[in-house]
Amino acid sequence: MKRTLFLITLVSVFAALLSAQDDAAYTAAMKTVNPAVRAVNPAITAKDNAAVNAAGKTLLTAFTTINAYWTAKKADDAIGFSATAKTAASTLATSTDADAQAAALKSLQGVCGQCHSAHRVSAGPGQFTIK
Ligand code: HEC
Repeated sequence: MKRTLFLITLVSVFAALLSAQDDAAYTAAMKTVNPAVRAVNPAITAKDNAAVNAAGKTLLTAFTTINAYWTAKKADDAIGFSATAKTAASTLATSTDADAQAAALKSLQGVCGQCHSAHRVSAGPGQFTIK
């Protein structure tokens, strides 16, 4: 009995550790998003495809991590938001057409707020956690 209890405790400690690690990877990915998004708009205006594509690649990497996170959590709305973000990011990563880039940026920025109001909790100034 004691041994079983010990094993259960051990397993839950590992599960908590693993999920803390996932959350850290998630936050690290999310921190790369803002600067990349900010770089896109001026790059589109300047018709600097290399810069648009580079920022798009950063976004694609971030939203691939983020989409995998929510897929593992089976949170359907967040899976949808991050899938939309991924599709938009992959357009930004490859497209050299300014109209397609602008449309992708718009679709990407459309999901930030939707997912944040559903899944982001404020934990003090500039601090956020996931729900
Ligand atoms: C699928 C859900 C989802 C989408 C889409 C999403 N976010 Fe987030 N974001 C979160 C969650 C949850 C947090 C809180 C956890 C964290 O801070 O890592 C967060 C945190 C952040 C943070 C704070 C990071 C930190 O802790 O310092 C920034 C900045 C951010 N998001 C920017 C964006 C921008 C910009 C977009 C759109 C281009 C976006 N996010 C799209 C879910 C999402």
